[in-house]
Amino acid sequence: MIGFDDPATVARYADNPPRVVPGFHDLQRMTRLLLAETAPVDGQILVVGAGGGLELRAFAEAQPLWRFVGVDPSAAMLKLARLTLGSLGERAELHQGYIATAPEGPFDAASCLLTLHFVPEAARVATLAEIRRRLRPGAAFVVAHHSLPEGHLRDSWLDRFAAFGAEKGAAFDAARGGARALGRQLPILPPETELVHLLEAGFRDPQLFYAAFTFRGWVAHA
Ligand SMILES: C[S@@+](CC[C@H](N)C(=O)[O-])C[C@H]1O[C@@H](n2cnc3c(N)ncnc32)[C@H](O)[C@@H]1O
Repeated sequence: MIGFDDPATVARYADNPPRVVPGFHDLQRMTRLLLAETAPVDGQILVVGAGGGLELRAFAEAQPLWRFVGVDPSAAMLKLARLTLGSLGERAELHQGYIATAPEGPFDAASCLLTLHFVPEAARVATLAEIRRRLRPGAAFVVAHHSLPEGHLRDSWLDRFAAFGAEKGAAFDAARGGARALGRQLPILPPETELVHLLEAGFRDPQLFYAAFTFRGWVAHA
C-alpha cells in the first residue's frame, strides 16, 4: 500500500502526478468541464481523494464561485492540500476520513481522481454508492484511476506506464519490482468491472472519456 502518511511521499506528492499520469492537467480540465455540465456557477462540489489539493486548486481557479468539500483519510495529504490551496482554501471544507462520514450534501457534482485504485474491490461499490447518495439527481460524477485488463497484457501496460514516468524523471525503484510490483500491490480492476460497479452503485450511463496507458476515466450521472 502506498503510504500517504509517509512524510517523504507527501513531500514529493505535488510534483509526481504530472510526471506519471499522461495528460494529467488535461484530465483535470476535462473533469472540471464535465462537472460544470451539471453544477451551477455557484455549485457545491464533492472531491473524494482530495489530498494534495491539486484538482481542488485547478477547479477553484477556473470556477471562482464553486465551493468544495474535500474528503481524504490522510491528515498529511490534507495538510498539503491546505498549502496548495492558499487563499483559495476559503472555499474548501476538508474532511479527514472516508466518504461514509463526510458531509451529506447534496452536491451538484463530484470527482474522484487517482484514488479508487487504492480502494479494495470489496469496498468499491459501497464507496461509489456513498458518493452517489450525496449527489443531486442527475449530477455528474467523474472518476479516473488505474484500470487494466486481466491476463498477460497487464505487465506490458505497466511497463509503458513506467516508461512514460521515466522520461519525465519519475523512475520506479527497480530493486522493488518497478511498476509491475505496484500493479500487484494495488487492486487494479478491469474496465468492464469498473462499469459494473458504477451501475451497481446506482450511477446512470457511465461513459469512458479518458484512456491513457494504464489509466481510464468515466463520467456518470446520479
Ligand atoms: C494519488 S493521491 C490523488 C490525490 C488527488 N486526487 C490528485 O489527483 O492529485 C490518492 C489520494 O487518495 C487518498 N485515499 C486513499 N484511499 C481513499 C479513500 N478510500 N477515500 C478517499 N481518499 C482516499 C490518499 O490518502 C491520497 O491522498
